[in-house]
Amino acid sequence: MTNIRKDCLLDELNWNLSAGADEVIAEEPCDYFAVSTAKPAKEALLPTSAPAPAAFTAAAPAAPATAAASDLKTISTLAELKEEMLSFKGCGLKTTATNTVFADGVPTAPVMIIGEAPGADEDRIGLPFVGKSGMLLDKMLESIGLSRARNVYISNILPWRPPGNRAPTPAEVVACLPFIKRHIELVAPKILVFLGASAASALLGVTESVSRIRGKWFKYEGTPALVTFHPAYLLRTPLQKKSGWQDMLALEEKLAEETAKETKKEM
Ligand code: URA
Repeated sequence: MTNIRKDCLLDELNWNLSAGADEVIAEEPCDYFAVSTAKPAKEALLPTSAPAPAAFTAAAPAAPATAAASDLKTISTLAELKEEMLSFKGCGLKTTATNTVFADGVPTAPVMIIGEAPGADEDRIGLPFVGKSGMLLDKMLESIGLSRARNVYISNILPWRPPGNRAPTPAEVVACLPFIKRHIELVAPKILVFLGASAASALLGVTESVSRIRGKWFKYEGTPALVTFHPAYLLRTPLQKKSGWQDMLALEEKLAEETAKETKKEM
């Protein structure tokens, strides 16, 4: 291959990556532009066994076939909930994701943390917050004596990665919301922490920016809920790490309060 040809191919790959088309989903390459100008029958547009390319399906919001909250009420264990999610067909993101990222940590933990959606590392490994932002999250938690190995449970609003790490569409959030709601009910933590705007708006219905509502305590179905910056945002905006640290201190204080209340009740 000549160097010029190689450079062209690399440019094209980079262009696709920046457009969010970062998944290979068909065995054979297909020139979709050529097919569409020839105006063939609709079904001939795609190789028979292949789903539409990620960049195209990703842009189209999934038909909002929401997980029925009433059906999920009959689910009484996390294992059953995971099974239900594995067989759910109402969210298009599942077709491009490698894994269903369910949760990590201790299911009986007093603190449950909820992020937005898996990224590339999480999708590959099948666990939430295992990439760069996860490492920062672990450090932040460790600074106040918390860790997913001992006393924290972590999940996301969406269990499937949006291709190219784009923001989830409202339809995708609506489709998956009953899952995380039931997930919270089953874990029944003492304290919830919502990382970033997606989690805060989906579960609290707030529309203000995170910088306005971070560090404040809300109630989610009676459980104290703290909104704080998403660690990916803190990585991009290190000046805000100070606020992230203040929020961790607020979390530590609230946890001590909630634990003391419980101990008193038991006496
Ligand atoms: N960002 C999230 O919101 N969740 C993850 O699991 C990873 C990155």
